Amino acid sequence: MKRLPRGSSIFAAMALCLCVVVNLRLFAEPSRPELTQPLARSKESPLVFARDIQPLFKAHCYRCHGADEQRAGYRLDQKDAAFRGGESGEAAIVRGDADNSPLIQYIRGDDPDFVMPPEGDRLTEAEVKRIVRWVDEGARWDE
Ligand code: HEC
Repeated sequence: MKRLPRGSSIFAAMALCLCVVVNLRLFAEPSRPELTQPLARSKESPLVFARDIQPLFKAHCYRCHGADEQRAGYRLDQKDAAFRGGESGEAAIVRGDADNSPLIQYIRGDDPDFVMPPEGDRLTEAEVKRIVRWVDEGARWDE
């Protein structure tokens, strides 16, 4: 068998070492979890009020609960008032608890006699789900 020149085996050894080191670094420390679960993370990112929620209120609710008109003394275009509720005296949105938030019960239509909006286009199932998720995430109201 023909012997390789001396220098090449040292090279081979060095390359091997480098490979081992690089591999150890790659597999030993999951220091960048976004590399291992990119989909899960982007799905979990919290909803943003101004982008994901406010447009729905604008399209379906402001007509009766906005700057011009406040049916039942309720307005949804101002943060404090939106949480406080209207004439019923009940808080309309309970942070972190969609099931106990009257606003959610109304848009979901839990009680067929008290559905919001009472006329005009209802929210789609996906839109209702999005608002439910937003409330359960803590109803962060960043405009
Ligand atoms: C066409 C007008 C109209 C639209 C549009 C409308 N509402 Fe209402 N809303 C009312 C009326 C009228 C009442 C009072 C009903 C009653 O007491 O029987 C009310 C009551 C409420 C209340 C209870 C307030 C309180 O504490 O007394 C909430 C919460 C509410 N609406 C949320 C919404 C949401 C959310 C939307 C949009 C998805 C919406 N409404 C769209 C007319 C409207």
